[in-house]
Amino acid sequence: MDRQPHVALIGMMGSGKSTVGFWLAQLEGLRFIDLDAAIEERQGRSIPEIFEGDGEDGFRDLEKAELAECLSSTQPLVVSCGGGAVLRAENRAVLRDRAWVCWLRATIETLGQRVRSGENRPLLGDDPVGELTAISAARTGLYAETAHEAIDVDGLEAEQVAEQIRRVWSRPVSTR
Ligand code: S3P
Repeated sequence: MDRQPHVALIGMMGSGKSTVGFWLAQLEGLRFIDLDAAIEERQGRSIPEIFEGDGEDGFRDLEKAELAECLSSTQPLVVSCGGGAVLRAENRAVLRDRAWVCWLRATIETLGQRVRSGENRPLLGDDPVGELTAISAARTGLYAETAHEAIDVDGLEAEQVAEQIRRVWSRPVSTR
């Protein structure tokens, strides 16, 4: 089997998907799409405004449509997904089908250090570490079932993670 056309990065808020995706795309000479940024651009509203106006379900509908659209591109690209993109079964299916999916796995300690409450992350309230712990527990199985590969990102700079992804990704599919 040829490798899937796109690379998709999944994982929790604060795992570094956007920065790693940017570097990976640079290194591979591919187009980069940050799914949250694409939704914001299309909507003309920020993520918190969308959550506020449409609720989480409304946001998930937009996220699903944007993901399907970007993975239907014939031009290979790197896409960084929002942390909750794996919640919907349709998203997990299209990701597995159209992309080589890499899970950026991080400890709660790392996530807590990187995430600042209120920074475009309406799901994190006054207790970001508590929320991250609960969300991570609920999603770990979904990340695992969606990903073709997982990379532990604790202690690594974004560029190092991008390099590691390249090494794994360029291996023939049969040896993964
Ligand atoms: C979310 C993660 C966010 C954003 C939204 C919901 C989540 O993206 O899509 O706030 O459910 O984990 P990042 O993972 O890029 O922060």
